[in-house]
Amino acid sequence: AKANIGVIGLAVMGSNLARNLASREGNTVAVFNRSYEKTETLLSEHPEAEFVPAKTYEEFAASLTTPRTAIIMVQAGRGTDAVIDELTRVFEPGDIIVDGGNALFTDTIRREKAVRETGINFVGAGISGGEEGALKGPSIMPGGSAEAWQTLGPILEGIAAVAEGEPCVTHVGTDGAGHFVKMIHNGIEYADMQLIAEAYDLIRRGTGKSPAEIADVFAEWNRGDLESYLIEITAEVLRQVDAETGQPLVDVILDQAGAKGTGAWTVKSALDLGIPVSGIAEAVFARSLSSKPAQRAAAGDLPGPEAAWAVDDADAFIEDVRLALYASKIVAYSQGFDEIIAGAQEYGWEIEKGEVAKLWRGGCIIRARFLNRITEAYAEDPELVALLTAPFFREVLVGGQEAWRRVVVAATQAGIPAPAFSSSLAYYDGLRAERLPAALVQGQRDFFGAHTYKRVDKEGTFHTLWSGDRSEISAVDSH
Ligand code: 6PG
Repeated sequence: AKANIGVIGLAVMGSNLARNLASREGNTVAVFNRSYEKTETLLSEHPEAEFVPAKTYEEFAASLTTPRTAIIMVQAGRGTDAVIDELTRVFEPGDIIVDGGNALFTDTIRREKAVRETGINFVGAGISGGEEGALKGPSIMPGGSAEAWQTLGPILEGIAAVAEGEPCVTHVGTDGAGHFVKMIHNGIEYADMQLIAEAYDLIRRGTGKSPAEIADVFAEWNRGDLESYLIEITAEVLRQVDAETGQPLVDVILDQAGAKGTGAWTVKSALDLGIPVSGIAEAVFARSLSSKPAQRAAAGDLPGPEAAWAVDDADAFIEDVRLALYASKIVAYSQGFDEIIAGAQEYGWEIEKGEVAKLWRGGCIIRARFLNRITEAYAEDPELVALLTAPFFREVLVGGQEAWRRVVVAATQAGIPAPAFSSSLAYYDGLRAERLPAALVQGQRDFFGAHTYKRVDKEGTFHTLWSGDRSEISAVDSH
């Protein structure tokens, strides 16, 4: 039998995606792995699935109907380039190579350009949802050409998660757009996780509740506005008891957070684009700080507040934290969408923001009830300049900002770090400020470097003769 779709790279993500594909009506899946043992394992463990195994790239290509379509599921990086080289060797013009790894979008842009020269289509597709998502239905963010989407679309729609009757996949935009949007997804994921972690820490230290009790709080939150996958799994992690010590698992896990780099990419790209994704950046930095044991040990005896901390009214405090979390989360999404808008402009993509929010409703790590609100916000105003100002979010912020401030004040006074809560609040206050001290910064820049400034009361660019008579002259704009 010939296969209509192929998967290359049969580690857990690849195997699960291949099984997901094979389980759908109409698919026959060609499978290839660099070492054939993995292919054999997959075949023997899943006799129910209709796989066409290949031992060489030639065999793999011969087993596929045209246009050949293959999804690469190898660890992002140099391995991806090696597989692409092999596939471009055995594939023909019109065929489609899909990279389903967590590739950096600029690599995807480069690869798409190079592969296109051969007449073969290259599609960088972000896939979210971890191992379970790959098997049962991930959220998929494909880039690449509209032509490739014709063939690929129906196949991906068949395996994607379904949210409210719609598959969680859309053609996001050309070349690297899919991987760019996946990168932003991960940046938001980092922020969301950090905010939840801060919420947990504040509740624990402020109220003395146990992890299991706090699990109940999160489970309760998961029945309301904050309903989301990350809140749901947080409750499960907090409830877990370590078999060896009988302690809550969270107390025996080393408190140094790892990272594979996608959060940092989001921030680096934002720096290049000049987009303030401060909440996301704090989340990335919070992981870095946690993973610096030497500095933490050295600073361990620096003073904090004298008085011990306990909140007077635990329930009221928990509700404040819930509102602070909600507000900060809106900031994280707003910042993420700002970066999508800027990236689309910079790289020439037409990204439908509302569609992005829709495809994040199911399958992916940041799936959440409130994503529908984002879709609605962009449907109402496609030119919305700042997501957090959309009517629905504005209302949440109006209702939550005082609680948000109380939480940040309490954390600060208690000496408990809440970097994502506080930087999100500072972002909110920065955006809404009528005047910012940026005016003074401009004055300083003009003083030491004649960098010039603009005035509020007339057109033009100006410089003060600081080392002369301090009179003002018209100048050429130097930014
Ligand atoms: C997903 C996840 C997935 C993975 C990331 C984050 O969408 O399924 O984002 O891509 O979990 O690599 O990993 P780190 O936390 O290790 O950076």
